[in-house]
Amino acid sequence: MSWKPLIYIITPENSERTVLRAQLLGADYNVAAFHSSDEALSCLADSIPHLIIVDADHAQDETSSFPDLMQRLEKASPLPLLHIRAPDGGDYVRDIQRDASDDTLTRPVKSLELLSRVGSLLRNRQLLGQIRIQESFLASKDIKPFCANNSPPTILLVEDEAAELANIRRLLEGIPCNVIAARTAADALWHVKRKTPQLVIVDLLFPDLDGLELCRYLKRQEETKYTPLLMLTSVPELDNRIVGLNSGPDDYLVKPFNDMEVLTRVRRLLNRNRGHRKLLGNNLLLNRHGYTDASSGIPGQEFFRFVYPEMINWSQKAQLPFTVARIRVSTEESFLKISSETRSTLRNFDLDFITGDLDLSLILPETPSDRAQVALSRILARSEEIGVPPWEIRLVTVSIGENGWDARHISEMFKAGPHDLTGPKGHSANGQKILIAGDSDGSSDLASVLSAQGYDKVEILPLEGNPVPGKVKANLVILQGDLEKVPELLQRLIPSLTDPETPVLIKYTGPVGGSPTPSIPDSADYIPPGSGTDYFLHRVRNSLNMAQLRSGTEEVESFLKRLIRLLEEGDVDVQGHGQQVANRAVALGTRLGLEREELEALRWGGLLHDVGKIFLPGKIMAKEGMLSAEEFMMVKSHSKLGYDLCRAFTILDSALPIIKHHHERSDGKGYPEGLKGDNIPLLARIVSVVDVYDTLTRRRPYRPAFSAEESARILRSESENGMWDMKIAGEFLKMIES
Ligand SMILES: [Fe+2]
Repeated sequence: MSWKPLIYIITPENSERTVLRAQLLGADYNVAAFHSSDEALSCLADSIPHLIIVDADHAQDETSSFPDLMQRLEKASPLPLLHIRAPDGGDYVRDIQRDASDDTLTRPVKSLELLSRVGSLLRNRQLLGQIRIQESFLASKDIKPFCANNSPPTILLVEDEAAELANIRRLLEGIPCNVIAARTAADALWHVKRKTPQLVIVDLLFPDLDGLELCRYLKRQEETKYTPLLMLTSVPELDNRIVGLNSGPDDYLVKPFNDMEVLTRVRRLLNRNRGHRKLLGNNLLLNRHGYTDASSGIPGQEFFRFVYPEMINWSQKAQLPFTVARIRVSTEESFLKISSETRSTLRNFDLDFITGDLDLSLILPETPSDRAQVALSRILARSEEIGVPPWEIRLVTVSIGENGWDARHISEMFKAGPHDLTGPKGHSANGQKILIAGDSDGSSDLASVLSAQGYDKVEILPLEGNPVPGKVKANLVILQGDLEKVPELLQRLIPSLTDPETPVLIKYTGPVGGSPTPSIPDSADYIPPGSGTDYFLHRVRNSLNMAQLRSGTEEVESFLKRLIRLLEEGDVDVQGHGQQVANRAVALGTRLGLEREELEALRWGGLLHDVGKIFLPGKIMAKEGMLSAEEFMMVKSHSKLGYDLCRAFTILDSALPIIKHHHERSDGKGYPEGLKGDNIPLLARIVSVVDVYDTLTRRRPYRPAFSAEESARILRSESENGMWDMKIAGEFLKMIES
């Protein structure tokens, strides 16, 4: 089930509680409804709300329990409050007691206003959170944060009915501002082009363009995408789907208006606009002080390193998920296109960073990974349209904080900076030695194509009829030859390479047709005959990337081992479990005749199968006795959490099925997907057997350790009962008994 924000409703009115609850549940929020703050207080240990809707008079009467509740929730701040008031409830503005994170709602509560205000407050909280992070970074660098000027704001009023226009104009006299009136959409656009307003008030229905269309248009324009839009309507129940859309209005007012309500709305939205200007102004400051990339304005590594732990900290306190996504592209040109596309697609509180030569990292607050995937795949789907071939982009996401996890390990993990997480950077053309070997026909053309791409060390080695001159060293060898000659050329080339793992890319010459060499060494790959230059260059880049990745494996490996050490450190009884499972899984895989790549996957998968447990609260891992159903559910999530984390590492690609499926059972009663029998990936079945045995031999908080003989007996009996793959378990038992 995907994550949803949790809303507390506190009102003594039974019917109001029921109606509000139903409306919010219908709009897909999590809701907890209470008749008093005392009742809400008793629930806090289980869940922290992301917004509170409270009867304003009742809260004022609860002189100790309401303030107590708010104090207990201080750590989740900014936490917005939505006060429900009677229409004659006095001065609304004064009643917004705290800061920009609160708002009011007038009785009788209309569904449209409720949902738009809730959506707006939740978005606003993100904005305030981002400003807070920006400002603490600036403070850490002794830079004074941006201060928005206080000159009267400009409000554009788009209304075709003269009487209505005059009425709102009169109301706005209560606020120091300049009002510009437009009677048609064309008029409105003309005004927007001349001067960006701080707020647009627009009627839903007016002659030349639908009000919603105008909103969508303004939200897409660079100059007005942060300008709040207030929609006036006489339709009290608009379709919920349009409420809260990023492209839609920021708030609604349903006619007939309450005068004070109009003023309150306008003030709130102008405040919001000030927040946006603050965010942008602070960005300019970051830019001026060299913390952003000069050409794109996107923040760099240093800001990322600051924001990351801050986000983790805040998300943990407020029980919010967030997703980190990394988009890696292979050329600078594509990077520029993708980063500008991403910028225009991001919500205003999402953050983007340049974290490597061709790496774009995104932090998407309040977004679980499934939703992030949808948003990001939209960007990827547009890639071809903006001229970026799909093979030039790689996307990884890591989702954090969906289970109320303990952040101590994660903060440790990021101390050394994002490179530890991301592994080696994307490749650069400079300094990479490429050897063009084999047929000399066309090799100088190939060399010029590569030089034009910035490869500055391209050499030609004609092999045909010539002996190989001693040992050959290169980052990549491109071997040219026709279908018949390639096997022989390979036989002469491979022994002469200083590193036998040097990647070899075979480029077939001669007539197109026939099947390429059936057996080529592991380190070699071929380009299908007849492929074009673009594809050729893409393969060259990929091969060099892979080679770089291989040479950077040690760095990534030591980081991952550090992660496992952190995980096992807290529990003496599991120390060495990952390594032990890895060693035995590889030994078992060898007995089962698996290929080298599969053994490598077993090694990683064995080592990291439980890495997702670093996200679980220590108290659950150490709990003696039975786990509650909810705790057990959290424990079960570790395989998926580990999978999400490990997706960040290219070198773990083939181990991912192991990490995700090592708790599946042959009888289909395992998790996370309840796969059965051979539908469970083979490598995961191997690790399951080894994992079960190793766990049995260790003491757990809820039972003593079993002896080797007893563990073997249990494993055998469970396999006979259909829990584990019988053939694999049988081979494993033979192996440990030998
Ligand atoms: Fe596990």
